[in-house]
Amino acid sequence: MFHVKHVPCPAATLGRSPRRGRARLTGARFRSPFGEGPKNAAPVAVAISTPFPAASNERSRISNGHLGAHLGPPDTRWYEARVKAVLKQRLDDLRAEGLLRDHLADRRAEAERAASALGRALLDFSGNDYLGLARTEHDVSANQDGTPGAERQPWGAGASRLVHGTHPTHRQFEKRFAQWLGHEDALLFASGYAANVGVLSALATSEDLVISDALNHASIVDGVRLSRARKLIVPHLDLSAVEAALAEPCAGQRWVVVESYYSMDGDGPDLVTLRALTRRFGAALIVDEAHALGTFGPEGRGLCAAGGVDADVVVGAFGKAFGIQGAAVAGPSELRSMLWNRARSFVYSTAVSPQLVHQTFRRLEKVCVLDERRARLAALSARLRTLLRVLPGITVVGEHGPIVPCVVGDSWRAMRIAERLVSRGVLVQAIRPPTVPAGTARLRLTVNALQEDQDLQLLTEELEGALCDES
Ligand SMILES: Cc1ncc(COP(=O)(O)O)c(C=O)c1O
Repeated sequence: MFHVKHVPCPAATLGRSPRRGRARLTGARFRSPFGEGPKNAAPVAVAISTPFPAASNERSRISNGHLGAHLGPPDTRWYEARVKAVLKQRLDDLRAEGLLRDHLADRRAEAERAASALGRALLDFSGNDYLGLARTEHDVSANQDGTPGAERQPWGAGASRLVHGTHPTHRQFEKRFAQWLGHEDALLFASGYAANVGVLSALATSEDLVISDALNHASIVDGVRLSRARKLIVPHLDLSAVEAALAEPCAGQRWVVVESYYSMDGDGPDLVTLRALTRRFGAALIVDEAHALGTFGPEGRGLCAAGGVDADVVVGAFGKAFGIQGAAVAGPSELRSMLWNRARSFVYSTAVSPQLVHQTFRRLEKVCVLDERRARLAALSARLRTLLRVLPGITVVGEHGPIVPCVVGDSWRAMRIAERLVSRGVLVQAIRPPTVPAGTARLRLTVNALQEDQDLQLLTEELEGALCDES
């Protein structure tokens, strides 16, 4: 038996958009991008209450024929036609109201070209670079390895992307990132936290339903809270609960959000089954691959790529396996436009440092060619699990990958064991509530590919010693 935690949406927020809400209540002139809704829809959805249309199972096929042959990403990308249609409709609504920030072009380059055509230098009266430091203090040492262009990247973007802060390297990276994952387009964020908060709050409207795994990262939780959507929190990895939640009435779009590899549990959902399930209900699948990109899959393209799963939205963060900072969100081109317009953590924040983006670009190329290191990481992780599983007094959770959590239960006990290990020169992190559920305090062990077999052996002996002291 599963439990779906209902988080009711206040009646006042339902149908917040007066124009569209009214049309739906009266059934008059409602411009639905997807036409019909679920069988058991609530009264507000009467005008659209028929079984799911066959169209909801239609998928849009996007050719990636332009991709470089050496990359090896999927040849085709499938999105839910419904998801693209919903986003397109919402963008059209913004355009009709004169609110669309349509020009995704690089305004700086445009102005530079115009100035040069007039035979003069760009006159830049925009941005927030009041002392002129962002435009003059370029770190030329960054180019000592001969990387072309590094010396030309400023550290400071100077403003938000929409105002003035877009530099060529932003777009170049976004296109490469999307290409790497076989998506249509992508958008950079300053961090994974900003990406998740921006994505969920921008995409899920008051008419929508968000289904979120109970152990999703705080940034997803906060994004869902900021959205005005109805929320259903389902038990961790419980796909029958997801199915039940998907069958709930919803006048708008359904969004299912999961992580592909959970950072405190070292596990993840069956993405293939989840994709089939969401497709059946015309729901969008958002997958946070923060801990999986670089770590799993061919060229490090993550667990969606490893399982051949086409998520509608993929969130990647560069502070994990990439060993740098920042994040990017990949998906259909309409997604990028929607985030560009509506993700407040993106719109109202200074653009990511062009120098950082440049370095991230290089990191991405490096990550692609580290399949051997990924294989070593997988072998070391499996070995550590085997070693630890025989120790009494801990429960090793998770089945694969470099995150090897050892649940010890009590928070004080977790702290004591971690301190004992630190005093023996072994650094491990004790994780306590509220990061993990009460009673499941744990040692979060993480393996890296540069470790040796004897390092694992030593850790196991030291942990065994610490557990003996405890008992
Ligand atoms: C699943 C997940 N998503 C997002 C984030 C946030 O990423 P960042 O550290 O880049 O803000 C984290 C950070 O730990 C995470 O575990």
